[in-house]
Amino acid sequence: MRVLGIETSCDETAAAIVDEARTILAERVLSQEALHIPYGGIVPEVAARAHLDHLDGLIARTLDDAQVNLADLDAIAVTGGPGLIGGVFVGVMTAKALALAAGKPFLAINHLEGHALTVRLTDGIDFPYLLLLASGGHCQLLVVEGVGRYRRLGTTIDDAAGEAFDKAAKLLGLGYPGGPAIERCAQAGDPQRFPLPRPMLGRPGCDFSFSGLKTAVRQTAQGLGSLTDRDRADLAASFQQAVADVVADRAGHALDQFGRQGPLVVAGGVAANATLRARLKALAESRGVAFLAPPLRLCTDNAAMIAWAGLERLRLGWTDGLDFAPRPRWPLDPAAPKAVGAGVKA
Ligand code: KG4
Ligand code: ZN
Repeated sequence: MRVLGIETSCDETAAAIVDEARTILAERVLSQEALHIPYGGIVPEVAARAHLDHLDGLIARTLDDAQVNLADLDAIAVTGGPGLIGGVFVGVMTAKALALAAGKPFLAINHLEGHALTVRLTDGIDFPYLLLLASGGHCQLLVVEGVGRYRRLGTTIDDAAGEAFDKAAKLLGLGYPGGPAIERCAQAGDPQRFPLPRPMLGRPGCDFSFSGLKTAVRQTAQGLGSLTDRDRADLAASFQQAVADVVADRAGHALDQFGRQGPLVVAGGVAANATLRARLKALAESRGVAFLAPPLRLCTDNAAMIAWAGLERLRLGWTDGLDFAPRPRWPLDPAAPKAVGAGVKA
């Protein structure tokens, strides 16, 4: 079984082909980073146009890399949401056209499911496992019970973890994308210098909050006036440490509930952060469970995860109709109770 995956929900145009033996036959990711840098963040309209310009060629090159034709594929899978809707439309329309032209099944994949199942592609593990999904739009702890079966234990009541990194980076003048910039800058910094708040730390449950931390970074930066390189590095390190403390605390509560049923897994762009990974690895070890993190390139947005989620669904006989409508919001666990607080992100 071979599936083509397409991902266009944010600022990466990506295509990949995976097979049932967990082999990535080909994968291509075209980052739009340079396009968005002048704006200090992602501009949805610019992103959608760039996906439109590049997706066809990227798919053709991916098929060439894998030395397969459309006819050799078993299905076409595409991110159907959640994400920036213009980009999602570009991907979905392209996937539908390919599926129709080649007479292949079409699968609309929840982008979050792509992140959630990545570890089954990379490590071939069984269900269940405890997942921290931390990306630019999401920060959730989920029990992954099966394909399509996700039980959310906690989520953010305000900003996503990656959003906090991106906003803190902007405040420090480190530019976009913020996560890697903060991590780089923090390497030379003292994480103890600024005693930033740890929102939700020690509170019951598994929900997150990051907006107070972002405000504290702003106030600290304003209090310092003009920032030296040392100030920037110390503030970046202090911020990163605070995020790691909070995430480890919340994940610890999730492990209290989950026990030792399976490993602790991280996914999403923020899972690329080495400080965070080290903290979660230590946490897992202290609880006697394994810790798994996909390689960095499969933590951030990619199409191999979409192709793989498509393959998992196809194996179960699940496909979607060509009347599927792209979804700007698409929670993994619609039955989950709302997080304590306002402005909850699905
Ligand atoms: O999963 P992803 O590639 O896209 C979304 O689905 O959102 O995640 C992107 C997010 C951005 O907010 C980015 O700043 C963050 O992941 N990120 C990081 C790192 N690399 C990417 N955050 C912290 N440390 C990193 N090394
Ligand atoms: Zn993502």
